[in-house]
Amino acid sequence: MRIHSAIAATIAPALLLGQSMQPLAIPPLLEADTMHLVMAAHTHQFYPGVNTATYGVNGDYLGPTLVLQKGDTARIIVENQLNEITTMHWHGMHVPGEMDGGPHSIIEPGASWMAEYPVKNPAGTYWYHPHPHMLTAKQANLGIAGFIIVRDGEEAQLALPRTYGVDDFPVVIQDKKIISTGQMATYPLGDSLWVNGTPHPYLEVPAQVVRLRLLNGSIARIFPLGFDDNRNFAVIAGDGGLLPAPASTNRLWLGNGERAEILLDLTGLEGDSLLLKSYGNELGQSMPGSGNILFESSLLNGIAFPVLRIRIGSPTADPVTTIPSTLVTIPVPGESTSIRTRTKTITGTGMVAMGQFMINDEMYDMDVVNDTMLLGTNEVWHFVNNSNLAHPMHLHGVSFFVLERNGVPPPLWERGPKDVVLVDAGEDVKFIVHFGELAGADFPFMYHCHNLMHEDHMMMLQFMVLDPTSGISDQADTPVLISPSPTTGVVRFLAGHTVEHITVRDVLGRVVLERSGPLGKEGTLDLSAAPTGMLLVQLEGTGQRSVVRVVKE
Ligand code: C2O
Ligand code: CU
Ligand code: CU
Repeated sequence: MRIHSAIAATIAPALLLGQSMQPLAIPPLLEADTMHLVMAAHTHQFYPGVNTATYGVNGDYLGPTLVLQKGDTARIIVENQLNEITTMHWHGMHVPGEMDGGPHSIIEPGASWMAEYPVKNPAGTYWYHPHPHMLTAKQANLGIAGFIIVRDGEEAQLALPRTYGVDDFPVVIQDKKIISTGQMATYPLGDSLWVNGTPHPYLEVPAQVVRLRLLNGSIARIFPLGFDDNRNFAVIAGDGGLLPAPASTNRLWLGNGERAEILLDLTGLEGDSLLLKSYGNELGQSMPGSGNILFESSLLNGIAFPVLRIRIGSPTADPVTTIPSTLVTIPVPGESTSIRTRTKTITGTGMVAMGQFMINDEMYDMDVVNDTMLLGTNEVWHFVNNSNLAHPMHLHGVSFFVLERNGVPPPLWERGPKDVVLVDAGEDVKFIVHFGELAGADFPFMYHCHNLMHEDHMMMLQFMVLDPTSGISDQADTPVLISPSPTTGVVRFLAGHTVEHITVRDVLGRVVLERSGPLGKEGTLDLSAAPTGMLLVQLEGTGQRSVVRVVKE
């Protein structure tokens, strides 16, 4: 056991005691009309006799698994008992910008925030974690994260394991850097592997079909998962819900923030044992966790290592014994429905944490909205990675479907709804995305690299989703549309009333352009001379007034 003795030598002798296998911790379920989440600092003994400082949600480390039913209204009160600001983000959930818990939804120490939103996502595995600007890696690493399980009627019809902790298990995989005092360090790559906060975990499961809900909750490491007997397993869901049919594979790659649900058919195998491993030896040099010697050092780099020992016990009274051959019908929008193609080019060089990576040469600025989309529309996006490192790219408030990687369709297990996609160095990943939730300038959505080091180091940008029929107009008597936004110059306006006067202001209220005269209900307006950024276009006429936000690129 080269890894373990090396840890003992270089990390902390006390951790030697932690080498015995421990039963996998299963976070408690939380299912209620109004849920309370309390974030606070704690200590926990992950290794016997070693007190490690943590953050937790309603407990020492990590948080409860929230169960939401599609169609219900989620009401979640989040209380910040930490000594620093935080936010709480519902990763993967289709909620409006103001409920999304991004960096703008700051919860001060001692304060609370309530999120309330209709549950629109299909049944699947989502998660929550903090998202304060520059503090996400620290707070998530210390333990603020938890699962969200969405249930719905369609999934309930299927003969799938869904008894939590019995035949359906949450599995959040995190590598951890533990320094000699026994404390967790916010470091890109750790030397120890924890599942649900349990080092050296084992899980007892019944001899029948069981379901694992896998989440890569690490700061930066990529996990190519498989079993040590190289068996195939059935992937039934990706980030945002079920696939059309189970996809059989012996490897599943999970980038940071990505989820997958898998089924294992263990019928008749009572007494056997399986080992879930991460085949880090199969990672290319551009992947955090590979053996690339330029990366921050870690005892787990470049090797295959154990993730979770699975011991098979006796079956339950009412077991699921077959894997269904089909799951759900997913309406994947066709490329012809896209109203716009956006290309986001990733550049930069460096190691996993050290270095500066950028999206379209821009860096995060809380006060700048980088893109504006229209509610209810579909777009095709390309992430083109010209940097030397792989980046798991994530969009808030949406699910998308990967169409191609370098022109080739992705593996079957990657064809379900997703919200994070791993983009390797040299890759062009193309997906189609539907914008179904509103986000204005006050609480825009984020899109970013989910390597938490990169996210905290400015590899994040913001977008608004505006309603083209009414929401795009802030204070309109009648619906007004100005398109395109963002624009570089000429826009078309379409108002519900005759326009006699147009005033364009910048965000500080300074008039930057004026036009008068009978302009009709529709026409064009040249904004080339206006400054870049957010512009407020006021259209007045026949006693009516409308103000529309437009982004000038
Ligand atoms: Cu897991 Cu910006 O999110
Ligand atoms: Cu997110
Ligand atoms: Cu990145």
